Amino acid sequence: MAGRLEPEPIARRDFLGLAGWWTAALAVLGSLAGMVRLPNPRVLPETSRRFRIGRSRDYPVGSMQVVPDKNVLLVSRREGFAAISMVCTHLGCIVDRSETGFACPCHGSSFAKDGSVVAGPAPRGLRWLEVSRSIDGRLTVDSGREVPAGTWFRA
Ligand code: FES
Repeated sequence: MAGRLEPEPIARRDFLGLAGWWTAALAVLGSLAGMVRLPNPRVLPETSRRFRIGRSRDYPVGSMQVVPDKNVLLVSRREGFAAISMVCTHLGCIVDRSETGFACPCHGSSFAKDGSVVAGPAPRGLRWLEVSRSIDGRLTVDSGREVPAGTWFRA
């Protein structure tokens, strides 16, 4: 007679049957948990790449100013405003300004003042970024939107 300290042995066939049921139950629970999580996005939405850089009067005609912390050079001319990305198109280093335009410290690419490639290995010129005016009248740059080189925003 089996007591509390000596439980009745489970037959092998019963043990395998119970293990099968538990496995099936865990699989169903796992599937349900996955279905519950499915509507929630697994990635965070990308933060906006638009940023305000100030009023147009802060950038007098003829000036070229690096926007702090943004790796963008804002060029102001009579034609309007242009934002040139200072991210090298080779492998993404931040280019330095030079007398003739821009120079990449990583692999030696150089770019003219308009961002066009003078010497590789950069495969293409620096990106020109979209400039616009926000509702409050400040100039805005969208680093996620490239415009053709030579596109000037008239304020
Ligand atoms: S990252 Fe600029 S030349 Fe390679």
